Amino acid sequence: MSRRAQFLEVLGIPTEWLPREPRAGQAQPDAAAQPAAVPAAEPPAAVMTAPAAAAAAVDYPEALPDAAVAQPAADEQVAPEPVPAGPGAADVQGEREAAIATMDWPALDAAVAGCTACGLCRTRTNTVFGVGARQAEWMLVGEAPGENEDLQGEPFVGQAGKLLDNMLGALGLARGRNVFIANVLKCRPPGNRNPEPEEVAQCEPFLRRQIALVRPRVIVVLGRFAAQSLLRTTTPIGKLRGTVHVYEGIPVVVTYHPAYLLRTLTDKARAWEDLCLAREVHDRAGAGA
Ligand code: URA
Repeated sequence: MSRRAQFLEVLGIPTEWLPREPRAGQAQPDAAAQPAAVPAAEPPAAVMTAPAAAAAAVDYPEALPDAAVAQPAADEQVAPEPVPAGPGAADVQGEREAAIATMDWPALDAAVAGCTACGLCRTRTNTVFGVGARQAEWMLVGEAPGENEDLQGEPFVGQAGKLLDNMLGALGLARGRNVFIANVLKCRPPGNRNPEPEEVAQCEPFLRRQIALVRPRVIVVLGRFAAQSLLRTTTPIGKLRGTVHVYEGIPVVVTYHPAYLLRTLTDKARAWEDLCLAREVHDRAGAGA
């Protein structure tokens, strides 16, 4: 089975949809209400913009739904108080960022595990550092741990993670082998609420250092929140897709979050286009290395 067919299968699109000729006198349905037709061939090489992406200006709706298993009450957890903001806080933050920017893997690992820079330290079960090959050519960046990730200390281990693994498999990739997977936030926001700007600001130095240490050939950002945080923009995901962005000198391709893809048939084929673009960017970066 071709990689493309394999990918469509893992996304739950077993057959290709071909547009039907309208019968005489039959009105054309509203294009916006139609599922996206799966492209009949692999996307062309060196796609830098995707007109289809603009048409798909659909933001990744919010994070994963709250899970059924109850979290331990916050007051049952033993966690240190977060570092308070106050006079000189900017200097302290600057020093913290400078220190993180020079850390090696073990120091970074320890710093994340012991982080108390925001209130999420009080409700987390585990920090979720990231997983994968530390010299990976591919890096994937998601939003924040959900309930399962918080419990297991590993990113993308729930339903969305299964889909992500299948998508990676269709590209010949696997977590732990040639991909490093991380999140913008290393701790779970309670109830899977959206991360607060202050939480993102405190966690960002960790992700920046991870990216600097891995130095991947390409970063694939999963979902609106991660894309807007990493690229520091408020542009909707539909407009961020299909273009190669740059973060600290590394090419970045934006695609939909797997949790969103689990629910939205119409954008699954577009995710394949995004991954094809990422593969091209990866291959091109390798050719120039
Ligand atoms: N969603 C994310 O963005 N990251 C995870 O690790 C799990 C779900």
